[in-house]
Amino acid sequence: MSTAMNFQPDFSRALSYFQAQPNYAVSPLHEMQLDGQTLLVKDETQRMGLGAFKALGGPYAIARYIADEWQQQHGEVLTPERMQDEDVKTFASAMTFVCASAGNHGLGVARGARDVGAKARIFLAHTVPQGFGARLESFGAEVVWAGDNYSQSVEAAVQNAADTGATLLADGTWEGYTELPKLVMEGYTVIGEEMRAQLSVKGQWPTHVYLQAGVGGLACAMAYMIRHNWPVQPEITVVEPDAAECLQASHRAGQPTDVEGPDSNMGRLDCKEPSHVAWHTLEQCDVSYVTLTDAQAAAGAEQMTEMGVATTPSGGAGFTALTLAMAEASKTAGFLPLVIISEGQV
Ligand SMILES: Cc1ncc(COP(=O)(O)O)c(C=O)c1O
Repeated sequence: MSTAMNFQPDFSRALSYFQAQPNYAVSPLHEMQLDGQTLLVKDETQRMGLGAFKALGGPYAIARYIADEWQQQHGEVLTPERMQDEDVKTFASAMTFVCASAGNHGLGVARGARDVGAKARIFLAHTVPQGFGARLESFGAEVVWAGDNYSQSVEAAVQNAADTGATLLADGTWEGYTELPKLVMEGYTVIGEEMRAQLSVKGQWPTHVYLQAGVGGLACAMAYMIRHNWPVQPEITVVEPDAAECLQASHRAGQPTDVEGPDSNMGRLDCKEPSHVAWHTLEQCDVSYVTLTDAQAAAGAEQMTEMGVATTPSGGAGFTALTLAMAEASKTAGFLPLVIISEGQV
């Protein structure tokens, strides 16, 4: 395995960046009841006004990229405050960030580019809800509808970046393309550190954590943070649609493996190609894998919405997996599950 596949994020660097942002707040960790069982619910549905955890990825990667380029050219280390100065914004205005998105990563990139004065071009497959396109445009991004599925929109974005000299800012990684998505995932590590701090105040640690995955970036960042920084270790389960179980297929094959399947109603998790860095990291984090059908995911999202956190089949997939595993898992002494609701209703 090449060293490019190593993920060694600096969560404190990401946390200090966000703590300097006016729209940053620690997201809530709710305690809820389900059939007499207490569960912990990390609620990302309001994150930085974008409605999903991905608000921590693209904007952070863009800020770091610009700070690194500036430092190389000017020898100055940029503070988050300094990034708002006109000379830095003029420097950033020459840059265009390109990505494909199932929705939320594009919002992060569009908002991150706007905040630093750069441009964004987002490629969306025709399966992405129309509403995402309008929201992206409201952040000043150029929206290009391309392809019948996520993989085709990724291909279009990669090609466009190569043709135009724009900077590709994917959330997935592959052989030869790893560094910017690692920064995206470093941004997500903030969630893991927030949870560690919240749990230590409670003095309670979960026995089971369920992490929904598309390309695997969120699951990778959370599993890394849990295994490296939490004092009490839970079982970790990675949850994918049965139509897009690319991480589980990679685990079975012992190498990154693409899958085929129909479209899933878990649109944000419907990624048929795993992030190679994410998968390699997950392999070192002792995780297990489960899949969900569309019907299970829809029912789980409805249940969580009724419980008070309105979400989608993608955003509630970890919770759905918990509901299905509850009878067996609850036999564990001190059973205390934790799930992340990764987006609000779209
Ligand atoms: C709401 C939501 N949940 C989970 C995921 C999965 O994240 P990843 O693709 O990093 O595995 C995404 C990705 O877009 C998402 O938008």
